[in-house]
Amino acid sequence: MAKFRFIDLFAGVGGFHIAMSKLGGECVFASEIDPYAIETYRQNFGIDSECDIRKVHEADIPAHDVLCAGFPCQAFSKAGKQEGFDDTRGTLFFEIKRILKYHKPKYIVLENVRNLASHDGGRTWRVIAENLRGLGYIITEKPLIVSPHQVGVPQLRERVYIMGVHSAQTQTQSLHFEVPHPHRNQTDGRQILNGSADPRYRITEYEEFVLNAWDEFIKGVNRKNLGFPIWATEFGKDYDTSLFPAWKANFIQKNRELYFQNRKHIDKWLRKYNGLSDFVPTHTKFEWQAAENIGSVWEGIIQFRPSGIRVKRPTEFPALVAMVHIPIIGWEKRRLTPREVANLQSFPNHYIINSNQQQAYKQFGNSVNVRVVEYLTRQLFEQA
Ligand SMILES: C[S@@+](CC[C@H](N)C(=O)[O-])C[C@H]1O[C@@H](n2cnc3c(N)ncnc32)[C@H](O)[C@@H]1O
Repeated sequence: MAKFRFIDLFAGVGGFHIAMSKLGGECVFASEIDPYAIETYRQNFGIDSECDIRKVHEADIPAHDVLCAGFPCQAFSKAGKQEGFDDTRGTLFFEIKRILKYHKPKYIVLENVRNLASHDGGRTWRVIAENLRGLGYIITEKPLIVSPHQVGVPQLRERVYIMGVHSAQTQTQSLHFEVPHPHRNQTDGRQILNGSADPRYRITEYEEFVLNAWDEFIKGVNRKNLGFPIWATEFGKDYDTSLFPAWKANFIQKNRELYFQNRKHIDKWLRKYNGLSDFVPTHTKFEWQAAENIGSVWEGIIQFRPSGIRVKRPTEFPALVAMVHIPIIGWEKRRLTPREVANLQSFPNHYIINSNQQQAYKQFGNSVNVRVVEYLTRQLFEQA
């Protein structure tokens, strides 16, 4: 598409902004309430995004061709429909709806969490789809679910995208998007690394100690069969599990079998590490999600999670989320830097990252993947 004007709602740090600019767009309005995100947006785009969208009158928003929004997922009122009220009222989707109703931009590009597709038994998606169709927008029949790893970026992050075109401004009757098959293991986590010797990112001595212990553990067992969480506290126990939920009893049973099959190795390991008495309790739990693709913890991507330590193959990083569990690059014994996290979201090298490191991690954890937005929007413009 030739030059166009877009608005960036729930703008965050501008994932949509970057994608739209690459496609020839000019941002004419942005809205955000988080002070740190507002600061980052201003530094990068010279635009003041500070405003609560609930307080902005639609007539005060400039005319635009594309409305972009990565809006928070909220449940709709169940009472609404039966009583004939607008059941989107009170949700942030309602803000999008009233702006669309007034401005009728040709295109919409919306993003939300994967859960939107199944949220509230599918009702959330239905209400959104019905409302957008009611305003005259053609959207896909089903929610479009795409992850960056499908477009060559080593991050597994499924998100719902709602791409739409206004029926009054197109000949197109329906929209179709080509998305590569979601095969994993075709990307390489190394693609997004810049390297860093900064001690702030290095894992702690304790973390190295615990990971070395688990490395010894997996080297002595058949890694192919480790498709369940390993709970070291269950080794050698035989108490009754019949009152536990079935899934839990099943995991415990599997851990007991693992112990009996590898008793010599595990007993020696437990002795060496003093029954894991120096481990934080959650670190006695371990998930090996790399089968036989790698032979060492240090070859994988590691996360210290509340449910235990997880090791995955190095082909893609787990979804960036709240950023409390920043992934560790095993072979470099360090966490991802904010710049690498920006790379995972396909932000360009010249992007100015917030100087507050915790905020920077959070901002990219909340942002949209630029390459996915660009990939889908290009298809939208080409067909409608
Ligand atoms: C999922 S994030 C969107 C991130 C964005 N797509 C990006 O690439 O960075 C949702 C954002 O909506 C903002 N937000 C929530 N309520 C808002 C409101 N009433 N007005 C404006 N922004 C709001 C939040 O502060 C948050 O940054």
